[in-house]
Amino acid sequence: MANLPVLAFTDFKPAPAPVLVILTDEKLDFGSAARAALKPSGDLVARVAKAEGFNGKSGKVLDLVAPAGLALDRLIVVGTGKAKSLKARDWLKLGGFIMGRLSLRTKAASVIVQFGSGKVSAADAAQLALGMKLRGYRFDRYKTKKKDDEAPVAVKVSIAVENLADARKAWAAADGIGDGVIIARDLVNEPPNVLFPAEFAKRAAEVKKLGVAVEIMDGAALRKAGMGALLAVGQGSERDSRLVIMRWNGGKKSQAPVAIIGKGVCFDTGGISIKPAASMEDMKGDMAGAACVAGLMHALAARKARANVIGVIGLVENMPDGKAYRPGDILTSYSGQTIEVINTDAEGRLVLCDALAYTNDKYKPQLMINLATLTGAILIALGQEYAGLFSNDDKLAGRLIDAGRDTGERVWRMPLGPEYDKMIDSKFADMKNTGGRMGGSITAAQFLQRYVGKTPWAHLDIAGTSMAVSGSDINQSWGPGWGVRMLNEFIAANYEK
Ligand code: BES
Ligand code: MN
Ligand code: ZN
Repeated sequence: MANLPVLAFTDFKPAPAPVLVILTDEKLDFGSAARAALKPSGDLVARVAKAEGFNGKSGKVLDLVAPAGLALDRLIVVGTGKAKSLKARDWLKLGGFIMGRLSLRTKAASVIVQFGSGKVSAADAAQLALGMKLRGYRFDRYKTKKKDDEAPVAVKVSIAVENLADARKAWAAADGIGDGVIIARDLVNEPPNVLFPAEFAKRAAEVKKLGVAVEIMDGAALRKAGMGALLAVGQGSERDSRLVIMRWNGGKKSQAPVAIIGKGVCFDTGGISIKPAASMEDMKGDMAGAACVAGLMHALAARKARANVIGVIGLVENMPDGKAYRPGDILTSYSGQTIEVINTDAEGRLVLCDALAYTNDKYKPQLMINLATLTGAILIALGQEYAGLFSNDDKLAGRLIDAGRDTGERVWRMPLGPEYDKMIDSKFADMKNTGGRMGGSITAAQFLQRYVGKTPWAHLDIAGTSMAVSGSDINQSWGPGWGVRMLNEFIAANYEK
């Protein structure tokens, strides 16, 4: 399915490969390993750099075909800008950029990760490798006739680094995080006839192999537990709903778990309040929150995170049918609170309210974070650059903003308040499931807040960031696997001390 590069770290004597990639900052002084490799070509690179006005600025490249004196098909000199100011997220993008320069016919390449002006940390080298891995991903499982330029060869990449042992260790963890991102991407990209609730649950359960405890609740179990809101959404579908609970206990026994909850609407037609036909196919991605949780649990287990984390995903299909729920219905949620359905297309909050209340009740988490492709309104507010962040806890919100900044999966805080909350009061029940056109993302968040009690909680509205994104250095696929890296960082930075 993928063109994942086969990545291996080496010392500064990489095995000869037809393509060599070297880095330079704005001073154009190469590290010792690159200088040694370039020696037989004399002052070739310096001459071309001068002639082309190549200055080593970030995003600038010198791409030399069959450079004289060197046993290479290509030499790629990549500018990085100021070496000292490169952050982890810049190294990640750099790796993606380099992978993007390689032709799909390239069988082997080596990348020398060194500057003339000082060391590159093992962690940064691992981020570069992760960027290469993520850039190589493509979802082409269902293309039976691949043209030449669509059928890449698996490229062997050797990454030459200063401290081999440390780099390999850092890569072992980053590689697992990359696998988690790819799991999330695959789930988001899969078509809805293949990936329905039971199938999603089966795939999520594969994380058992890494030591995660997995429990799957089917329709009967959900009815028994009283999840009347989640079940209502799924009742118009031929496909039974599921709730999947994944528990990773890498922390101290005394540490209350961090709970991450994902919206998993495997397809959202809107139900009886049916959506227009245009772009409805995109609603196969309405399970991106759940996909992120599945990928995150893989990442945490793969790198043996020293924290207790529970992942919970609510899986349903929202279909119109003779048995479907309808506007006007009044539902009794797991919490006991009643909900008047105004619009069956506001289904994500109904899935999440039961998943949140159940998680809070059963596992007494120290905090809860939910991810959901919840509202079109968040796309209007923030576009596809930032996810919307809503929280009842400033410390938690701050930690998520930090993790987002550091990984490049950014979140922007939005308001909550009693004025918004009263917009979802109902004439007939405790609340209604929509609050009108104005502030649509906020009233959706207010709805969720009614189910979390006093537990520190954050809601990430990822409708804009998690599907149908334009290509970037580290992702060329429809589903970017948004949030796996940022939540992994959130856990690593705050809950593994
Ligand atoms: N899954 C959609 C939100 C969505 C829209 C995600 C576009 C990704 C791209 C959600 O279930 C939905 O339909 N929300 C409605 C809520 C409305 C009926 C109050 C919306 O945003 O229009
Ligand atoms: Mn909907
Ligand atoms: Zn939806």
